[in-house]
Amino acid sequence: MKILITGGSGYIGSHTIIEIIENTDWEVISIDNYSNSSEDTYNRIKKITGKDIKSYNIDLRNLADTECVFNENPKIKGIIHFAAFKAVGESVENPLMYYDNNINSLNNILKCQAKFNVPNLIFSSSCSVYGNVEELPVTEESKLLKSESPYAYTKQIGEVMVNDFIKVNEGLKAISLRYFNPVGAHVSGLNGELSTTKPNNLIPFITQTAIGKLECLTVFGNDYSTKDGTCVRDYIHVSDIANAHVLALKCLLNGEIKDSHDIINLGTGVGVTVLEAINAFEKVSGAKLNYKIGNRREGDVASIYADNKKAKDILNWNSKIGLDDMMLSAWKWEQNLSENNF
Ligand code: WQD
Repeated sequence: MKILITGGSGYIGSHTIIEIIENTDWEVISIDNYSNSSEDTYNRIKKITGKDIKSYNIDLRNLADTECVFNENPKIKGIIHFAAFKAVGESVENPLMYYDNNINSLNNILKCQAKFNVPNLIFSSSCSVYGNVEELPVTEESKLLKSESPYAYTKQIGEVMVNDFIKVNEGLKAISLRYFNPVGAHVSGLNGELSTTKPNNLIPFITQTAIGKLECLTVFGNDYSTKDGTCVRDYIHVSDIANAHVLALKCLLNGEIKDSHDIINLGTGVGVTVLEAINAFEKVSGAKLNYKIGNRREGDVASIYADNKKAKDILNWNSKIGLDDMMLSAWKWEQNLSENNF
């Protein structure tokens, strides 16, 4: 059975391909334009799994190119749509880049899902759709507040696009998975986050500071009303996220999802502050981190973490990897990159 992964050479996409290879007999086809990754990812996947990945270097904003992939690979049974820009801070500085890429790519994927009658879609959404929530933990029924960044807004719009599309395409189904903060790297240390641009996210900033690639980590504000004044997030290991995608697609394929478009949180349910994340890293790595307290970052919400009961009930999914192991896997990957002169 053929599954199409968009953004397959990216961080979460590549870990999901590994999870699919190791847990199913599905045939994976990947589309990526390497705007935030490299083709070398597929070599890393091969090193871990022994498998070659059929891949296409195309931009999903080009409908004709995207349709070619579906024409060349008939009877695709599921699409996992990861391909999107995802850095909150960057989206504030460059909103149109985010609207153009994230919305137009999704629009073409939905057009192809209808045209080629692909029964199942998993949409990569984000906890950032909740905005600056007051009530925590957030459930899937929590009210979506004003998005705090263009990135978050593209995910709010994306969920509505999927919902409206599925409503008028009888027989097609979708799950939107709202990731909290994906972190860490494959347990082998052979795959992890490898942005082509300067990192925007906390954990790569921590590991690159610790390894000496970056001079000093800035903690963006310690005057929030949280236990230590720094922002709270629900950090979740990328392999736990990948496992949830396999389970979600299996549920769709087996007809176990009753709603035509369901929305599910993917978080551990544990809120961790920036300083707690730094302390956990220092504990497991033995490295002393050079950091300073700076100003708040535009677009940041103070605190958010998941109620993940629905994922447990519907997908029979649980996060398995704790904060210490998340940090250790990220550190192992950073050391591997450094040893291989990345
Ligand atoms: C985390 C915390 C920063 C860098 C991410 C993804 C987004 C979505 C939601 C999946 C914040 C602080 C960061 C630094 C810092 N995930 N920080 N110094 O903004 O929560 O968004 O999760 O879709 O795709 O971007 O993650 O790692 O950027 O920030 O103090 O140098 O770390 O202020 O409180 P964020 P992040």
